[in-house]
Amino acid sequence: ARITFIQPDGTRQAFESGEDETVMLVGVRHNVPRLPADCGGQLACASCMVDVPEPWRERVGGPGLDEGDMIEDALGARPVGRRLSCQIRITDALDGLEVALPEAQG
Ligand code: FES
Repeated sequence: ARITFIQPDGTRQAFESGEDETVMLVGVRHNVPRLPADCGGQLACASCMVDVPEPWRERVGGPGLDEGDMIEDALGARPVGRRLSCQIRITDALDGLEVALPEAQG
């Protein structure tokens, strides 16, 4: 599936995902800025945040329980569309997905 990463200044980078990857892994593999992903996908760092734009939110789904708690712990809030990208597993249904990197991260 093709995944596009959008930086706060509007810079866009698009990559093909491999088999059974997460959005985080695709971004880290290509050194996408603002994606430190310090814990390597263990749901322990909250430094892999992305914003899922409205048209994709239903298909991507909301955060899981622990994921939502981590986002709230890190931000003091749960912004709509905010996800930890290591918890977004890419399927064919997500081909064309766009995610935005938060200004404050990394
Ligand atoms: Fe650490 Fe996602 S990479 S929580």
